[in-house]
Amino acid sequence: MAAQEKKQATTTDRQATLTIDGKTVNFPIFDGVEGASVFDISKLYAETGHFTFDSGFMSTASCESKITYIDGDAGILRYRGYDIDQLADNSDYLEVSHLLLNGELPNAKQKTEFVRRINNHTMVHEQLHFLFRGFPRASHPMAVMAGAAASLAAFYHDSLDVNDAEQRELSAFRLIAKMPTLAAMAFKYSTGQPFIYPQNEMGFAENFLNMMFSTPCEKYKVNPVLARAMDKILILHADHEQNASTSTVRMAGSSGANPFACMSAGIASLWGPAHGGANEAVINMLREIGDVSKIPEFITKVKDKNSNVRLMGFGHRVYKNYDPRAKVLRSTLEEVLGELGQINEPLLKIAIELERIALSDEYFVSRKLYPNVDFYSGIIYRAMGIPSKMFTVLFAVARTAGWIAQWKEMMDDPKNKIARPRQLFTGSAARAFVPLEKR
Ligand code: CMC
Repeated sequence: MAAQEKKQATTTDRQATLTIDGKTVNFPIFDGVEGASVFDISKLYAETGHFTFDSGFMSTASCESKITYIDGDAGILRYRGYDIDQLADNSDYLEVSHLLLNGELPNAKQKTEFVRRINNHTMVHEQLHFLFRGFPRASHPMAVMAGAAASLAAFYHDSLDVNDAEQRELSAFRLIAKMPTLAAMAFKYSTGQPFIYPQNEMGFAENFLNMMFSTPCEKYKVNPVLARAMDKILILHADHEQNASTSTVRMAGSSGANPFACMSAGIASLWGPAHGGANEAVINMLREIGDVSKIPEFITKVKDKNSNVRLMGFGHRVYKNYDPRAKVLRSTLEEVLGELGQINEPLLKIAIELERIALSDEYFVSRKLYPNVDFYSGIIYRAMGIPSKMFTVLFAVARTAGWIAQWKEMMDDPKNKIARPRQLFTGSAARAFVPLEKR
């Protein structure tokens, strides 16, 4: 495969030339291993006194990275060169975490050691139980997670030195290991049930489901089909190059902030309905539609520019094709519903009909709006008995491996600089202060 033969990003002989105010300036062009090339405009301001303006990063590469590659037109997502469907079908979340962090899938010995180190850190400090108790039981679990993730910095002082590679690694293990525990605690707290401690003899996804659904008076027998589906969902959500939450993690980390604080920033960014919050919004939308017969009316609203209604779980800034994660989830959904005897679930019928319409209706086809990862994940979670408020929390649990891998990549890079975007100022020009009595 071409991607495996070409190892490094390369400078090219080509240059981009800009002529402004009679002055011509050249900018080097770098080719990546795959994907679009970039102009290096870091000297633009020094040479021309101008900044670029690119609200929403429509044409801006914010960093160099070796972790994840997306070809949105072709519907390709790869972690470290491996196609996402191959990883989802053949690997597991901890192997994928090793891959994201270290660049390679682990061999058997490395895997045993990686799992041992994760298991060393699955429990959280007992004092954290009191932090949870400070929240109202009706809190949104993403609010609890943002607080709990940041609070880890208050407990684990021995891994806060971001300039020490060993401490950076220790934080990575702690975060991947503890996020499922915190997520299950957030859920248990919301239901008024006692927290369930992690069981290290279980697999990662199995342990998470056990912490969610086991109670001290009744053991939860984890269904292996559901555990495997959960593991697949974790793999599919583990990384997605420089999306809003990952860029937030990188930006927070660029100032030297500790990784727990950076994860909390990532969680905050993920919470928005245009990003990780969409899976919760999909279920709310399906419930609101309520019945297949109401779909045409809903689609009319979606197409009406004045309605502000969007078909949640459709469209993506990068994918202008079927999101490859949604493809895997579509078949996982059928496996899960088949296993649980819920194949006639009414929300599934609505979802399938929405998908059929969107894939054939001119409005969606011309805008290249395909189902994204969030379209199916919520229906799977719901079938597993996970409430919709927890959906984005599960996204955060999965994305922790990607966030910490991207943070580590940035921190390991000696060229790392504090991120400091500039602006096009359109506010008031200089004016004299007016005393209160004269305003
Ligand atoms: N329903 C209806 N119309 C849509 C939708 C949608 N879901 N998404 C985009 N459009 C229309 C939009 O109105 C615009 O139309 P026009 O050109 O006539 O003005 C056109 O498509 C382009 O939309 P955009 O908002 O400029 O595209 P974007 O790249 O800024 O937004 C998005 C991407 C994901 C925010 C958007 O597609 C959306 O809001 N989708 C629904 C929310 C969702 O499912 N988000 C999860 C994303 S996947 C998980 C993740 O990676 O975080």
